[in-house]
Amino acid sequence: MTTSNRRIVSGMRPTGRLHLGHYRGVLKNWVELQHSYECFFFVADWHALTTHYDDPSIIETSVWEMVVDWLAAGVSPGAAKLFIQSRVPEHAELHLLLSMITPLGWLERVPTYKDQQEKLREKDLATYGFLGYPLLQAADVLIYRAGGVPVGEDQVSHIELTREVARRFNHLYGREPGFEEKAEAAVAKMGKKNARMYRQHRKNYLEKGDQDALAVAKALLEGQQNISIGDKERLFGYLEGSGKIILPEPQALLTEAAKMPGLDGQKMSKSYDNTISLRDAPEEVEKKIRTMPTDPARVRLTDPGDPEKCPVWQFHLIYSDNDTREWVQEGCRNATIGCLDCKGPVIDAVKAELKPIHERAREYERDHKAVRTIIAEGCDAARDVARDTLEEVRAAMGLTYT
Ligand code: TRP
Ligand code: SF4
Repeated sequence: MTTSNRRIVSGMRPTGRLHLGHYRGVLKNWVELQHSYECFFFVADWHALTTHYDDPSIIETSVWEMVVDWLAAGVSPGAAKLFIQSRVPEHAELHLLLSMITPLGWLERVPTYKDQQEKLREKDLATYGFLGYPLLQAADVLIYRAGGVPVGEDQVSHIELTREVARRFNHLYGREPGFEEKAEAAVAKMGKKNARMYRQHRKNYLEKGDQDALAVAKALLEGQQNISIGDKERLFGYLEGSGKIILPEPQALLTEAAKMPGLDGQKMSKSYDNTISLRDAPEEVEKKIRTMPTDPARVRLTDPGDPEKCPVWQFHLIYSDNDTREWVQEGCRNATIGCLDCKGPVIDAVKAELKPIHERAREYERDHKAVRTIIAEGCDAARDVARDTLEEVRAAMGLTYT
């Protein structure tokens, strides 16, 4: 991600209560990012409709609950813009415009298309909306001209598609009349020394394919304070000889998906019914962990066990320090501790992790109005940025009719 583009976009589908898997896999990362990047986080309700069109009630009930879960997890409306996708209809217009230039094959080749259809066999996902959903995601990102998208491994192909669509768009529409003259005028505005360096590096890249020269020239451009954004875009495009960069290509920011195991040892997921929800009461947490399955070899207290065969051990790997882990290994293999003893530290750790989350959730549960205000303000801020991009996109595609 370039240093001048520290904007990040990410969305989450409102299809149920958030759990520890979401917290450890996504939300903690958002909370960290919000202080060093300009973050746009949204409720992806249209995305949820692509798979839940036959029963949208879960979406309706999940939208506000999910925003409360975000806030409870520490996502801060002061630091990040929080909004609802369908309240920023610019996403839909950009999606439509991008659909004109997106070859069907690009969408059919996205691996999640076939995977999800097979996984969700009970649903008819041979719909136009489902095929186009990665392109809608591309529009979500490109409408903010984001530099980065925090995603898990499963979504990397969507960011790749986003980059291809952006490249195609810029190639098709980045040629404005008089581009060369405007670019040359912009070079002159950088000042003598910078202009000379820019020209030299550009030449080295265009004539000899010198990648280092390209990188240096890009860094030089990023550091320019006195030229307008439009001129900057021109000069980025001019560097590679093509045209103006209207929609920059974002990077996938791969989050080291701290895989959260579920209560049964499989990945924590609502569809496996093995979750601890962020707002489960402490008694509920305790009950869920106490009834977790353990190594089946430990029928009696005197039967030794093997932590590798036990989902509780997965929790110790996340929540316990070395001493505790040694105590588990020893005690389990020598049958000197019982499984309930072993679960004690896990119960305490999960409760401790959820405590501040519950406290913040309680505040927002009491104050619906505050939550709605946060979203209304986030929507306004997002729309301001989205409208600017869309205006340029419309102009580039010849839709202004002045
Ligand atoms: N497709 C993502 C998911 O299913 C959600 C999403 C929609 C998203 N638009 C996005 C994520 C834009 C990142 C950026 O999880
Ligand atoms: Fe699992 Fe701990 Fe019981 Fe061993 S002692 S089987 S690690 S719960």
